[in-house]
Amino acid sequence: MNRFMLVLAFLFATSGGALRADDALDSGLRPSPERGLWLLLNKPYLPPDFDQQAFDNLWRVWEEPLHSQAEKATAEERRALAFARYGLTPRPDEPTKPMQYVVDGRGQWTMNCLACHQGKLTGHAYPGLPNSHFALETLTSDMRRTKLWSGKPLTRMDMGSLVMPLGTSNGTTNAVMFGVALMNYRDADLNIVRNRPPPKMTHHDCDAPPWWNVHRKKRLYADDFAPRGHRVLMQFFLVEENGPDKFREWEDDYRHIEAYINSLRAPKYPFAIDGQLAEAGRLAFNAHCAECHGTYGPDREYPERIVPIDEVGTDRVRLDALSVEHRTGYARSWFNHYGERAIVADPGGYVAPPLDGVWASAPYFHNGSVPTLWHLLHANERPAVWRRVADKFDEARVGLEIEIAETPVSGSFAQKRQYFDTTRFGKSAAGHLFPNRLDAGEKRAILEYLKTL
Ligand code: HEC
Ligand code: HEC
Repeated sequence: MNRFMLVLAFLFATSGGALRADDALDSGLRPSPERGLWLLLNKPYLPPDFDQQAFDNLWRVWEEPLHSQAEKATAEERRALAFARYGLTPRPDEPTKPMQYVVDGRGQWTMNCLACHQGKLTGHAYPGLPNSHFALETLTSDMRRTKLWSGKPLTRMDMGSLVMPLGTSNGTTNAVMFGVALMNYRDADLNIVRNRPPPKMTHHDCDAPPWWNVHRKKRLYADDFAPRGHRVLMQFFLVEENGPDKFREWEDDYRHIEAYINSLRAPKYPFAIDGQLAEAGRLAFNAHCAECHGTYGPDREYPERIVPIDEVGTDRVRLDALSVEHRTGYARSWFNHYGERAIVADPGGYVAPPLDGVWASAPYFHNGSVPTLWHLLHANERPAVWRRVADKFDEARVGLEIEIAETPVSGSFAQKRQYFDTTRFGKSAAGHLFPNRLDAGEKRAILEYLKTL
């Protein structure tokens, strides 16, 4: 067995019971968004990742000058430093706990969906905002060293991340490949099957899309291949500890979680807008952008158009990383009601997403390669390597406040992950040259209009 197989065997070591083909669609349940949010925050669907003591000790493995700063700090200041380093947001009612992990009564921490799907912008946690601060790889590698140093056993993530990159820049993750790796060892009923060759993997990072647009779409993901539903959301906990019975048992939970996601709406732009300029922008947008992105306002329409990769021209790694076999394998499984719903097996491109609340959801494109809407509109000015500056919002360019860097970037691995290097595999900021047909005035007007969506 090679190292990859060894770790996968560790990850998928036990099997579960069989799952019956029917599902509880007619269970009479009334899905509740409030219940959905409660479940996300409080119910663990995975085995715990680490305990409170390990979290409180993380600072001991930090590089300088952060290490010395933490050593002199109070416990509360140290927690704030840790939350900032890993991209965690305090819960409003219990600020010692983050929204991104379930912390149970015994101090066990378990990652939840909000790890990637609940971020903050200028300190404000808008519901459904992607977590553009999440530093999963840095948290996991710091945690592994902390556990080894303090004699605590390693868990799934600590081991899995030795063979599987989790995310090479903060705010984006290899989540799509987590799904491929886990699904490879399940049959259509989600029984665990161990004697399979390892899946073909193309590691790459994606930026999670905002949840407030899900209600506008019929299908999900950057290539729009999977029909919406509650089961599609459950792939996240395909770890070996969760046999097929667990998926049945938790199905109603995910009806509530789906209701929460579908209830979300885009946040309003909190700063000033030039109404006249925005109105000019609306006209230009409707002439040049609406055919793909739809219209906004009372008579809104969204075409949900998949644009061929050669036409959109953005990075194609994500598209190619999911093969037709993978998509059809998923389509035949329990997640897709055994093929009852039509998937798009070979999308050939990316979907033009709805642009509601787009002012808030930087960075842009499916790989998170473009830091502001201004850069999206000015393709020649997109930075090759950039780093965001704290949690600041760039009002002029509408997006992340950044500094531009030279390559190669120096520093510890944790520091390097603060940079987004568009020259790396899967991280290109090229393409979507549609705004090139606009003049400077139209671009200014469209930028203003995008704030109103
Ligand atoms: C490690 C990060 C991570 C975690 C944890 C995570 N997601 Fe995601 N999610 C992503 C990424 C990245 C995408 C984009 C994937 C793509 O487009 O191929 C995504 C896409 C989605 C979408 C599609 C949105 C759209 O507009 O197409 C939904 C819905 C979603 N996730 C729900 C969930 C739920 C529910 C959970 C927990 C059960 C969860 N996610 C956990 C990273 C994550
Ligand atoms: C031919 C179809 C098409 C046209 C025309 C088009 N777009 Fe797009 N747009 C796309 C696609 C496809 C994507 C997704 C690309 C990706 O993620 O790789 C996209 C992405 C975007 C994004 C990033 C969204 C996000 O959440 O990351 C913005 C903003 C955007 N387009 C704005 C515009 C504006 C403004 C115009 C008009 C000047 C325009 N687009 C014209 C197809 C189009």
